[in-house]
Amino acid sequence: MCGIFGCLLKGGSAAPLIHVALKRLEYRGYDSVGAATVYEGRLYVKKDQGNVDAVHAKLHLDNLPGRLGIGHTRWATHGAPLQKNAHPQLDCDNRIAVVHNGVLENFSGLRQELEERGHVFRSKTDTEVIPHLIEESMKAGLGFADAVREAVKRLEGSYAIAAICTQEPDKIVCARKESPLVVGIGDSSIYCASDIPAFLPLTKRAIAMRDGEFAILSDAGAEIKKIADWSPVEREPETITWDLEMAEKLGYPYFMIKEIHEQPESLRNTLRLQDTYLDLMATFLDRAREVFLVACGTSYHACLAASHMFSKLAFRSTQPIIASEFVQRAGDSISVDSTVLAVSQSGETADTLSAVMHASNRAATILGLTNVIGSTLTRVSRTYTCQQSGPEIGVAATKTFTAQVSVLAQIAIKLGEKRGKLFHEEAKTLRKKLQQIPEIVERIIATQEEKIKGLAKKYRDKRCFFFLGRGISTATASEGMLKLMEIAYVPAITYPAGESKHGPISLIEEGFPVVFVCPNDSTRKATIGNIMEMKARGAVVLAIIEEGDEEIKNLADDYVEVPKGVPEVLTPIPYVVPLQLFAYHMAIERGCNPDMPRNLAKSVTVL
Ligand code: AGP
Repeated sequence: MCGIFGCLLKGGSAAPLIHVALKRLEYRGYDSVGAATVYEGRLYVKKDQGNVDAVHAKLHLDNLPGRLGIGHTRWATHGAPLQKNAHPQLDCDNRIAVVHNGVLENFSGLRQELEERGHVFRSKTDTEVIPHLIEESMKAGLGFADAVREAVKRLEGSYAIAAICTQEPDKIVCARKESPLVVGIGDSSIYCASDIPAFLPLTKRAIAMRDGEFAILSDAGAEIKKIADWSPVEREPETITWDLEMAEKLGYPYFMIKEIHEQPESLRNTLRLQDTYLDLMATFLDRAREVFLVACGTSYHACLAASHMFSKLAFRSTQPIIASEFVQRAGDSISVDSTVLAVSQSGETADTLSAVMHASNRAATILGLTNVIGSTLTRVSRTYTCQQSGPEIGVAATKTFTAQVSVLAQIAIKLGEKRGKLFHEEAKTLRKKLQQIPEIVERIIATQEEKIKGLAKKYRDKRCFFFLGRGISTATASEGMLKLMEIAYVPAITYPAGESKHGPISLIEEGFPVVFVCPNDSTRKATIGNIMEMKARGAVVLAIIEEGDEEIKNLADDYVEVPKGVPEVLTPIPYVVPLQLFAYHMAIERGCNPDMPRNLAKSVTVL
């Protein structure tokens, strides 16, 4: 996720406004920053690695001439956070500048086509193909707006872009597909931005752009058209009633609930990974004598899910190990034949890095899965994959968990094909099911959240919970347990449901709440047995089930339904969402701040 901004003033300097707007968009990304203005037929660009304050201190972002400009705060997905990869990205002649938020799937092919036509690329970003495509069309005689339209019609993936050029220095052209983009209408100015906070202090009149729409911002105002057929779009500005703090959360009360709701978007972006990265990870995992999945907290639960995926889809055995236990558990057996796949959203978790360094010092192969390109984990890994889920501000991991599981599933499918354990049709079907999951998550949020709010009121005063599941649902149950503990401060216990009779069931007494994760999969029948065990001893059962599962509906005291058709190996992604929502609403009911849970930090960089 990145932040883009553009502004056109009737008079005065655009650069200071761009600088302040980028500060307000920093929660969308902050590993690199840049701005560009047009003045007297020239493009002026300042950009570098680092956050807004660091780059401003170094380059003085306010000192760019001109009344028109664009800016960008970056959260790297393609290309490390380096000056050359910062936006704006330019064409060959430094006459066109583009800022972009999103993930392009087909940039490799476009780049090759453009290089064959003589274009010289300077960055490793997917974005850079856009100014060169615009350049091609303008050299073919098209005007700027038409050239930008031709360019975006070639793009596959998600984008919100703003573009300026020296040939037509009085307009900003912007377009969107999936990534957010709003236009701000001032009295003597006009803006475009990823989010409203960027221009809210300047104007409260905003027009939300929709997918497939294009806007030409000029002194005459905003002219909105449909990219497909260039038909005009008439839409009156809305008046924004949020204050700045609410606007940063898009009107949500907390970042955590905003990020839970963002999961369909972040999951769509995880499905735009370059096949080469997945193939490289699968190759290393295929050749390894032994594979350890090493992580902490939520990322460890993603590893638990992944161990089931690698086994079921690729017949690849893996050992998930909590990072702080790694050296004790496996430290002495690690050798050059070992492979460690470290999973860390931040890429900076000390326990995980400590385990990785121990393995690396014993010549093991280190693979990384992280959300932060340029993090320590990316530097110590032989190769890594970025999960592309954008910055996560809430301390509790939500969208980064489902993103991690989605990426690990894609690697497992690729590995299954590589090892001949998955027929092509099976792999194709699983990928198709993965593509459907963002919409399934959307439906869960839309249809179940109100019910879950009511359940949080009902269970608010319970003093301890069990979270149980079987098979891959043990990972899902574990994640639900952690969420409830860490943000609602409710003691919760998770273990494989089959373990109940080996001791834990002695805790059960009348009214004891037990959450079951029970998809319609190979473990369902046995899990029903566990539900009945618990009910017989007075437990109150809350079941997360496939929609329409009448048998469990009749057994459970409460249930939350997940749409049908999710393959067993992919169930952690949608089935965790009700548990995230339950934990969030329990926290609200119990007067906790879900964004800043006590005693916790977003990234635990100490051992
Ligand atoms: C999850 O909600 C917690 N915030 C925590 O367990 C976290 O997942 C853990 O510290 C690992 O962080 P990482 O993914 O950045 O390594």
